[in-house]
Amino acid sequence: MTCDINNEMEKQLFFHNYARLPLAITHGEGTYLYSTDGSRYLDMISGIGVNALGYGDSRIVGAIREQAEKVIHASNLFMLEPQFKLAGKLLEISGLSKVFFANSGTEAIEAAIKLSRKWAFLSGKADKKEILSLSNCFHGRTYGAMSLTAKPKYLDGYDPLLPGTANVSFNDTSDLKAKVSDKTAAVFVEFVQGEGGIHTVSHEFINVLKTLREKHDFLLVADEIQAGCGRTGKFFSYMHFDISPDLVCLAKPIGGGLPLSAVIGSSKVEDVFAAGNHGTTFGGNPVACAAGLALVDAIYKDNLMEQAVETGKWIKQALDALAVKYSQIKEIRQYGLMIGITVNRDASYYVQEALKKKVLVNATSGDVVRLLPPLTASREEAQQCINCLDEIFSEET
Ligand SMILES: Cc1ncc(COP(=O)(O)O)c(C=O)c1O
Repeated sequence: MTCDINNEMEKQLFFHNYARLPLAITHGEGTYLYSTDGSRYLDMISGIGVNALGYGDSRIVGAIREQAEKVIHASNLFMLEPQFKLAGKLLEISGLSKVFFANSGTEAIEAAIKLSRKWAFLSGKADKKEILSLSNCFHGRTYGAMSLTAKPKYLDGYDPLLPGTANVSFNDTSDLKAKVSDKTAAVFVEFVQGEGGIHTVSHEFINVLKTLREKHDFLLVADEIQAGCGRTGKFFSYMHFDISPDLVCLAKPIGGGLPLSAVIGSSKVEDVFAAGNHGTTFGGNPVACAAGLALVDAIYKDNLMEQAVETGKWIKQALDALAVKYSQIKEIRQYGLMIGITVNRDASYYVQEALKKKVLVNATSGDVVRLLPPLTASREEAQQCINCLDEIFSEET
């Protein structure tokens, strides 16, 4: 059976919730994706930050094959070795106490919301229900996660949202002090906001949050879904700060490209869930956990966090040089391999122009060109991306 894969067909088959590029993919290799016409594209967005080792890494493919031959799915009625090994590894890295596995970022956030409210309930404070998040954040698209995500673009028409959620102005310590109280059950923080355009929370803000946590006894939840797994140069982006979260949400790269997410919790919340309080059929799928284990091993074995720091710095310097030449560049923000370039027009223009030059970049927050290359990206590949942007900016002027 032949099958047309094009944007017309896409409109016929699917709900219109994705703005897909006119690119039908056959396979990937390293930092490159290949399309049906045989063209090769440099991928500087890596499946929106999922493919930390690029495409086709033999260790991940091998781990998937080996586990698939043993058992693909058995459910959480049973104990499965890859889950145990990956959970052990995440606890070792974080120094925290317990793990819950789910399948996607938004599900990890839902689990963290439920853990927070139940923790507050068990502590006997009936009115401790409020969940705070920061303006410009993105935590996902299911109802709880969406209710924390304050942007109208994601919310319009979906009322009513989860009650008891509110937003604190990003990096605004006065607003934080005004909004936090004994009623606060949890504060959710992306230490580096990804969808929001690559903005990092300030040390001052985190220090105030830490003091307020001592005073009002709420949970600090680190959303590491985009910034985690080494992308900022440390395994978790909160590790750049002097703070230990109570809950950490992890997804995107942690399944080596397969759907997997995790919530890691401190001893403070370790007894919150009892059997049946929460769960998911597919959460912690053994094939995904085996792939995740291969990913984490590779990150340490190949010093990929150090590489992310070096490649990121190099890209920043190259972009700074472009910013001197081109007034279209308004600001550059870079934390390891999370890179945002604020431009003076709709950033999707640059996505389309880069596509013509066979380079894949992404637009977020309207005017931000976002780069999330694999941690394995080489200097030559980074140079190819810079050359492409240089050409686009120069052709535009
Ligand atoms: C910081 C952050 N949190 C949560 C999510 C939601 O993850 P998912 O799309 O896997 O549900 C995302 C996705 O982009 C994210 O970047």
